[in-house]
Amino acid sequence: MVVSAHPVATAVGVDVLRDGGNAIDAAVAVHWALAVTSPWAGNVGGGGFAVVRLHGGQAMALDFRETAPGKASSDMFLGADGRPLHEVSTHGALASGVPGSVAGLFALRDSLGRLPMERLIQPAIDLARNGCVLSPLEAHEINVCMPMLQKYSTRPSAFTARAKWEAGDTLFQPDLARTLERIRDRGRDGFYRGETAQAIVHEMERGGGIITTEDLAGYEAVWRPVVRGQYRDIGVISMPPPSSGGMMLLQMLQGMEAMDVGAAGWQSPATVHRMVEVERRAFADRSSFYGDPAFTHIPVEGLLDSLYNLGRMVDFNPLHATSSATVRPGLPPTEHEQTTHFSIVDGEGNAVSCTTTLNGMYGNGVVVGGAGFVLNNEMDDFSSAPGVPNSYGLTGGEANAIAPGKRMLSSMAPTILERDGKLLMVLGSPGGSAIPTSIFQVILNVVDHGMDMQQAVSAPRFHHQWLPDTIQVEYDAIAAQDSLKLVNMGHRFKSRRAIGRVDAILRLPDGRLEGGADPRGEDSAGGY
Ligand code: GLY
Repeated sequence: MVVSAHPVATAVGVDVLRDGGNAIDAAVAVHWALAVTSPWAGNVGGGGFAVVRLHGGQAMALDFRETAPGKASSDMFLGADGRPLHEVSTHGALASGVPGSVAGLFALRDSLGRLPMERLIQPAIDLARNGCVLSPLEAHEINVCMPMLQKYSTRPSAFTARAKWEAGDTLFQPDLARTLERIRDRGRDGFYRGETAQAIVHEMERGGGIITTEDLAGYEAVWRPVVRGQYRDIGVISMPPPSSGGMMLLQMLQGMEAMDVGAAGWQSPATVHRMVEVERRAFADRSSFYGDPAFTHIPVEGLLDSLYNLGRMVDFNPLHATSSATVRPGLPPTEHEQTTHFSIVDGEGNAVSCTTTLNGMYGNGVVVGGAGFVLNNEMDDFSSAPGVPNSYGLTGGEANAIAPGKRMLSSMAPTILERDGKLLMVLGSPGGSAIPTSIFQVILNVVDHGMDMQQAVSAPRFHHQWLPDTIQVEYDAIAAQDSLKLVNMGHRFKSRRAIGRVDAILRLPDGRLEGGADPRGEDSAGGY
C-alpha cells in the first residue's frame, strides 16, 4: 500500500510494488514522481528524512536534510542594524541550503532497494515530459506563487509559461525531464556534478546566492540510528536529530502516559488541556537543546528519559493553563503545509515513512534556469539570532545557529509504530512545527480513542508550540462549550485552516492494511 499527496505518485508507487519492487523501491519512485506531480513540495532541490523498518524488525533512519553552504555565516540573515532579514532567509538564492534529496534517494535504493534506479526514475521523467493535468487546487497554488516565482527566478520556467493556470491545463516540465534524465544516466553525479551542478551555480551567481560546485560535490546523506520509545504497549520508531520531530513526539507521548486519555474523551477539555501543556513544554525544550548533532551536543537520553518528561509536568495544573512566559526549557540529564509525506508498506511487511520538503511552498521561489526544478528555502529553519522567530514562529538559540556545512533543525518526524514486535502503523506529516503535534494526535486517535486509520487522519486537529502562547485550532476541532471551558482554564485560541496533512497506514490484526489519506489535501491511498 502507498499513501501519498498525489494520486499519480501513489499509482507510480503501487506499480513498482506490483513489478516486484519492495517498499524502499516504491518510496524512491514516489519521491521522484512527487518532484513532478507536486513541485510545490515534492522535489529534487530540497531534502528530507526517511525511517525504514524491515519486515524482521530492523530499523534505520536516513538523513538527507539540506546543509548550509560553505560560505554561510551565523549573521547572514541579520541587517547592519542587527534586525532579522526575514525576506532574505525565505526567498531568493541565499535562502537555499545545499539540496539533499538526490543523494538520499541513491542512498536508499543502493542500500535497501531491489530494482534498478532507471526503472524507479523513468515514470517521473515520463510525467515531466508528457505533462501533468492540474487540479483546481494545483492551478490555484501555482497562480498564488507566480509573483514569487517571477520575482526570484532569473529565467522563465514551466510554471511561468502561462500568465494564469486553470484546472485541466497540462503542466509540461521539459527542463526537469532533462535533469531527471541526467540523473538516470549519470547517477548522483547527474545532479551534484556536471551540467545540473553548473546550472545551480549559475543560478546562484545571477541571484546572489552562495552555493558552490564544492558544496554540491561534497553533499552526503547520512544513515543514523532511529530514536525509539514506548507509548503504552506500542513501540515508537522515529527520526533522530537533526530533526526535532521524532524526539518531541516521544516527549509528548511520555507526557500523556499518566492520563487515561480514552476515558477522558476525544477533544474533551481535560484531554486538550493536557496535550497542550505537554506540547508547550516539548517546544520550549526544542528552542534550547535541538540542532545538528555534528555541531551541538544534544542530550538525547536525558530528553527521552521518562522521569524527566514526567518531571516537566510537575507544575501542570489540571484546572488552569500554564503561561508560556513561565515555562523554560527543562534541565534534562540535556508551511502553509508545504512539506510532503508518504507512507509505504510492501507485501513482505517492509515499511518506509518518508517526509521531504522545500520548506515553503515552491521553496525559495527560484527555479534553476534551464534545469527546471525549484530550490528550497531551508536556511530559514536555522535561527537567525536567539529568540528571532522563523516562518513557523519557532525560536531557537546557539544550538541551531548557522554554520558552514551544518544541517538546519527540522520538525519532520517520519514515524513507524510496532506492537508485540510487529509492524503497527506508518505515518508522518508536513506542517513545519505542527508536524510532531499532528502525528501525536493521530497516534492518540487510534491508540486511545479507537478510531480507524482514515477517521484518525481526518479528525480535526489543534496545535500548541509554546510560543506564541495560543492553541491553534482547525474549524470544529473542539466543541464550542469545551472551548469555553478551556478559555476559563486560561487557554487562548486562534483558528487555523489546516494543521498537518498526515498520510498513514495501519496494519490490522489479521495483516490487512488500512490507509488513511489526509482530506486536507488531494492525498490518496492505493494498494492491491
Ligand atoms: N522545513 C520544515 C521542517 O523541516 O521542519
